[in-house]
Amino acid sequence: MARTGKVTVVGAGFYGSTTAQRLAEYDIFDEVVLTDIVDGKPEGLALDMNQSRPIQGFETRVTGQTTGPAGEGYEAIAGSGVVVITAGLPRKPGMSRMDLIGVNAKIVRNVAEQVVKHAPDAVLIVVSNPLDEMTALAAKVSGFPPHRVIGQAGMLDTARFSYFVAERLGVPVASVRTLTLGSHGDTMVPVPSACTVGGKPLADLLSGADVEALVERTRAGGAEIVALLKTGSAYYAPSAAAAWMARAVAQDSGAVLPVCAWVDGQYGISGVYLGVEAEIGAAGVRAVVERDLTEAELGALREAADAVRAKQADVASL
Ligand code: NAI
Ligand code: 2OP
Repeated sequence: MARTGKVTVVGAGFYGSTTAQRLAEYDIFDEVVLTDIVDGKPEGLALDMNQSRPIQGFETRVTGQTTGPAGEGYEAIAGSGVVVITAGLPRKPGMSRMDLIGVNAKIVRNVAEQVVKHAPDAVLIVVSNPLDEMTALAAKVSGFPPHRVIGQAGMLDTARFSYFVAERLGVPVASVRTLTLGSHGDTMVPVPSACTVGGKPLADLLSGADVEALVERTRAGGAEIVALLKTGSAYYAPSAAAAWMARAVAQDSGAVLPVCAWVDGQYGISGVYLGVEAEIGAAGVRAVVERDLTEAELGALREAADAVRAKQADVASL
């Protein structure tokens, strides 16, 4: 099998390391690079991942690289077609994603500056929180065209929604289609009108109150896990989402995925990075895909856009 290309994951914490391992296990890349500022951490994790190759059966090389505050070590990412930014603090119980904004903005700014220097042609996939704001910041600092900067949140929120529906109805997850749009936060917009189970509308299978309970659980899906873990946040489902997005870019697949993308007129919304469905290919977002929404869903999406746009304007000065 031909393996090509190089993908970098910045931040070797729980999210970054699980993303790197998933990317390597796809066995489609020549090299996965994992970086972090903690001396030896990415090198140690990369060694461990490489030692899983004979058992797991993949040949993609994993390279670990410690980086310094002035960009020392970043030459390792040169030639990356995709860079996934996971660097940044996770939430603690009781914190909102927005409580991370000051500290993570400094981290994401620093990372984006180095990525521009060393991998100027890469597609950026941002996951650091607060997601919508960090995606906008990475786009601004990098100066990359908006389609080359994407945030990961919608795939995760949608997967959570699908899992909750499957669990409630006792059906395989593969039979469930759901969707969330909007922000990765309080103004997340689960879209029940787009949900089906075995091809049937969700509304035919569950009462309005039951659907609303699943929608609420989805909206608080990240906080539910943070409260249980007590330190750190989710990473298995999040890393599955980011790795899948990176794969769609690397393979120029054209998959339509819910992502945080630059919206420029779709749904009557402009000038904001927002959770929407988009066709993903080698250049990042090929096109934002609009679907029919109910009036309530469209209203909620526009409200989310207004809330996120205001925060994204603030973040530029952080
Ligand atoms: P973690 O604490 O396990 O790892 C973060 C890593 O970033 C640490 O290893 C740290 O040393 C590293 N780091 C800090 N500054 C850096 C820099 N300048 N360059 C390179 N590495 C740097 O946290 P975890 O669980 O990996 O989460 C990472 C981020 O992802 C958090 O902000 C979290 O809130 C976010 N997240 C986003 C989700 C989404 O759906 N968008 C879902 C889950 C987490
Ligand atoms: C999540 O939704 C904390 O954003 C992270 O799990």
